[in-house]
Amino acid sequence: MNFPAIRMRRMRRDAFSRALMREHTLQPSDLIMVAFVIEGEGKREPVPSMPGVERVSIDSLLAMAGECVRLGIPALALFPSPDASAKSEDAAEAWSPQGLMQRATRALKAKHPELGLIGDVALDPYTTHGQDGLIDEHGYVMNEPTVNALIKMSLAQAEAGMDFVAPSDMMDGRIGAIREALENAGYIHTRILAYSAKYASSFYGPFRDAVGSSANLGKGNKHTYQMDVANSNEALREVELDIAEGADAVMVKPGLPYLDVLRRVKDAFGMPTFVYQVSGEYAMLKAAAQNGWLNERAVVLETLTAFKRAGADAILTYYAIDAARWLRE
Ligand code: PBG
Repeated sequence: MNFPAIRMRRMRRDAFSRALMREHTLQPSDLIMVAFVIEGEGKREPVPSMPGVERVSIDSLLAMAGECVRLGIPALALFPSPDASAKSEDAAEAWSPQGLMQRATRALKAKHPELGLIGDVALDPYTTHGQDGLIDEHGYVMNEPTVNALIKMSLAQAEAGMDFVAPSDMMDGRIGAIREALENAGYIHTRILAYSAKYASSFYGPFRDAVGSSANLGKGNKHTYQMDVANSNEALREVELDIAEGADAVMVKPGLPYLDVLRRVKDAFGMPTFVYQVSGEYAMLKAAAQNGWLNERAVVLETLTAFKRAGADAILTYYAIDAARWLRE
């Protein structure tokens, strides 16, 4: 009689043996919630291209932070969505001690000191042109002047109590420069999460709506500093440099279309490796779910598990609170 020598289905037959052979388990402690902060009090503004995501004022942010703590989500990644009046050519509001991020950080640390805070370090929410850095007369983002601005921004965040500064700008040499400035100022515990392999992706569209940079950016793009979608050897070089310059953790962004990059980075360096499920990924999943085309809970948990399988240690996602609730049910 003919029979398969090895039956893979034997171990899959029952829930108990599937559980025993499971290689990765998603937990709330793998997740980082993403939040957009706005001025005002008692404010919650929906982001039209991200149904279910709101931009919140600092008081509402405290409630969101409390929910993270309750659910076992270890950290919150903060992105400012400043008023138009706070934007300028030189982005100076980014490092003002009274700037939105600094006030949000102090309020969060006072109320929920155990919740880790990750601060975005890039100029785009604060520039009138929507680029991540300072531009010359041709509109080119200038490397060193931008790095100097990012240093000031990082110091202001560290001073306010930020646990992680997370440069998302892709300037050359910024990790080393920020590390040196933090050390010299005595912020030896402030961690750096480097957006090392950050691609010039079209999946950031809804985020740019949320922080109010898309209209200012207009037809502009970020191809002179963010990475070409077609490359992955280049990603390894970026990660290697950021590690050498003193990054504590590295990140791949976007997420799902870049699982190959995530796996390569994790295998090559074994660093704490984070991944960012970006706004466009959220929007796709949400739109399909709202149309009844996909089972939201199932596909979201599947994508998050896929990140872990591909090597991620932590996942930044707009779904963190929803996913943590689903995991606890
Ligand atoms: C800006 C920044 C972006 C994101 C995080 N930081 C947008 C961009 O680079 O244009 C995108 C996040 C998302 O799409 O969810 N420095």
